[in-house]
Amino acid sequence: MRNVCIAGNWKMNMTPSEGAAFAKALAEAVKDATVRVVVAPPFVTIASVVEAVDGSVIEVGAQNMSDQLSGAYTGEVSAPMLKETGVSIVILGHSERRALYGETDAFINRKVKLALEQDLDVILCVGETLEEREAGKLEEVLKRQVVEGLRDISAQSMARIIVAYEPVWAIGTGKTATPDDANSAHAFIRSEIDKLYGKSVAESLIIQYGGSVKPSNVKDLMAMEHIDGALVGGASLSVEQFAPIVRYNV
Ligand code: 13P
Repeated sequence: MRNVCIAGNWKMNMTPSEGAAFAKALAEAVKDATVRVVVAPPFVTIASVVEAVDGSVIEVGAQNMSDQLSGAYTGEVSAPMLKETGVSIVILGHSERRALYGETDAFINRKVKLALEQDLDVILCVGETLEEREAGKLEEVLKRQVVEGLRDISAQSMARIIVAYEPVWAIGTGKTATPDDANSAHAFIRSEIDKLYGKSVAESLIIQYGGSVKPSNVKDLMAMEHIDGALVGGASLSVEQFAPIVRYNV
């Protein structure tokens, strides 16, 4: 049995005070959770959420970080800053970063390496656009994002990596990939990891599904062999929605 991780990506929502109040209510609602639970607030909201979830089951993640350690990089936030603030895991390569801010696989790979060097776990996001899927390029795109995103990452470091499969066309659209479609994409990702690192790394890798995950579809998704968690956007902003997702098996 693989471990399970359910993470909430708050995107650009929740001020520091809103985030703290929300996180306190969420911590209470998921205190009996049996899976790894992560919330990823915006940078300025991280510190108040770290304080609010102290002593609870909730871990705090970041949604992004700089590909540099320190220096003249206006507007950027470094891995050591995140670490010192109480972050344990960072989301990298989200499709919104790729599409809206031009992040390339090589750039994302630099961040993955830096995060690991700084002792942060990583959620590496991959996923195809509708255009790519319709052009029959699903596997080509996933393979490129996995191989390039993980370039020069050792088998040992893979224990700190989670891969999130987020088909771009399912994000925030209300369209979820069917459990079978998601499962076959996950199986493909796992087979690529097997080619790169061998069976034991591939079998223990957590692969999350992301894209319109809700209380109503989480059980069917989590029942699939290769789906080991969820990366949740919109539904992670409400305790009524996110708590039942985290507690899907309780
Ligand atoms: P939604 O759950 O809002 O579709 O967002 C998914 C996502 O992008 C999580 O990173």
